[in-house]
Amino acid sequence: MKITSDYLIIGSGIAGLSFALKVADQKTVAIITKRELHETSTNYAQGGIATVFSEEDSFESHAEDTMVAGAYLSNREIVDLVVKGGPKAIQGLIDFGTDFTRNSDGEYDLTREGGHSHRRILHASDITGREIERALVEAVRNHPNITIYEYHCAVDLITEAKVKNRRLPKNRCLGAYVLDSNSNEVITFGAQVTVLATGGAGKVYLYTSNPDIASGDGVAMAYRAGAAIANMEFMQFHPTTLYHPHAKSFLISEAVRGEGAVLKRSDGTAFMEKYHHLKDLAPRDIVARAIDNEMKINGDDCVFLDMTHKGADYIKERFPNIYETLLKYGIDMSQQPIPVVPAAHYLCGGIKVDSHGQTEIKNLFAIGEVSCTGLHGANRLASNSLLEGAVFGERAAMRSLENIKTEIPEFPVVAAWDCGTAINSDEEVVVTHNWDEIRLCMWNYVGIVRSDKRLTRALNRVTMIQEEISDYYWDFYITSDLLELRNLATVAELIIRCALDRKESRGLHYTIDHLETDDIHCKKDTVIRKTF
Ligand code: FAD
Ligand code: SIN
Repeated sequence: MKITSDYLIIGSGIAGLSFALKVADQKTVAIITKRELHETSTNYAQGGIATVFSEEDSFESHAEDTMVAGAYLSNREIVDLVVKGGPKAIQGLIDFGTDFTRNSDGEYDLTREGGHSHRRILHASDITGREIERALVEAVRNHPNITIYEYHCAVDLITEAKVKNRRLPKNRCLGAYVLDSNSNEVITFGAQVTVLATGGAGKVYLYTSNPDIASGDGVAMAYRAGAAIANMEFMQFHPTTLYHPHAKSFLISEAVRGEGAVLKRSDGTAFMEKYHHLKDLAPRDIVARAIDNEMKINGDDCVFLDMTHKGADYIKERFPNIYETLLKYGIDMSQQPIPVVPAAHYLCGGIKVDSHGQTEIKNLFAIGEVSCTGLHGANRLASNSLLEGAVFGERAAMRSLENIKTEIPEFPVVAAWDCGTAINSDEEVVVTHNWDEIRLCMWNYVGIVRSDKRLTRALNRVTMIQEEISDYYWDFYITSDLLELRNLATVAELIIRCALDRKESRGLHYTIDHLETDDIHCKKDTVIRKTF
């Protein structure tokens, strides 16, 4: 089966949907998404979206905070264009119906998070992402030029080089092979422009704040197709996810600390003062490392986040979702401190793109968390991710429309997916076993504190697992679990290789073998391309 449209958008979070809505008045759009349309990381975002909305604030200040958080590895040009593009992009979300919380004067309520020197975060209570996603989903569902394919999982990109079976100096993307998870059929989606908006890769770690969809598929597909991948060593660990045997890494928003909550040891003493002058509102890498250190030196399984001094009325009003969710786990955050631990949260690296989201492969764009635009450098500033998705969603859409005007590529004949001699697998356990092993290995050896020895050990393990997956992959019919496993292994390999390449500690990459930040030799992106 073959489906063609002007645009193929893979992913339905803030980036993919913002892009779709910009091009759909002029072109036909197919959106494919792994689960239901709204099941994205965007949907789980809590804290908010950063932008300069207050007169006391300035673009200069937001840009400087972004540079400081990113340990000065961010590209200042990109930082400026995202920060300055913020108010317009957020107005776009409001125009689609996003209802951000207002204060009693009717002004937008601006909250604070770590690393921000001003209150500049718009939020919709403590469920900002759900509100943004709701508005965008409604708009795309109502658009006549957009066709939505839920439970469709992209397997691999189709490129001209692949079709012609030879290396080409200027490779071009023609669409993607996509698994319909209901029928198990692999469908060929042809498109003039393909957009990867597949989000992050938290699932490569044992503990993560991310939903199940975040298995790094976009990065892995782009890498296999020959695109440049950058800065994968910078996996951000969010300092505060709930520590509870039955909670699957439920996030306790940084806005909770922004509004006064304090991190404490099990004996009740606050500790962040020891680590940074901004205390609990230091950039995320510093807070996560401090918690890791406190847990190690005190032999504790978690630390505690205390907001009891703010009182029940305030907490219920400002953080209703967090309050209610914690109650279900038997924790009343207005009466007792919340047990928390860090967890993998955000991939700062990804597919290397230019200032319009264009990858190194023609007609292939990458936007949102899957991309590496240069905004985040070595560590993302809180609430800059939704912002980047909205700004780059629009920039990439506009650039792609210009490209289509000037050059309309003909569709070559693309071979249907060939499943060769594959048979149904009766060894599903191999998939789950390898999956667990990768995630545990990444957590233990490629976590918050690293060393050359641990990284090398992790690379050896992942390489062996990749060999097993490769044998298995070509022998059996593909399933979405097997696809994810193959992608997780690729992403794990890329994170480890980038981490081994960076011989310094900077931002999220902290290694006991190279403790200093080395601006002379290392102030550059770590870039990896597949060799064919
Ligand atoms: P996503 O929203 O993750 O969407 C990815 C899409 O790609 C999904 O539709 C998925 O199904 C699809 N997909 C993936 N692989 C495939 C495939 N192979 N085939 C088909 N479809 C595929 N950031 C902020 O700025 N502020 C916050 O307050 C905030 N809070 C957060 C709270 C949580 C719990 C989490 C997890 C993240 C938070 N973040 C926050 C980060 C932010 O939410 C994400 O970085 C951002 O939403 C990513 O948007 P995206 O459009 O790039 O991808
Ligand atoms: C949070 O609410 O703490 C998440 C904010 C972010 O990831 O930017």
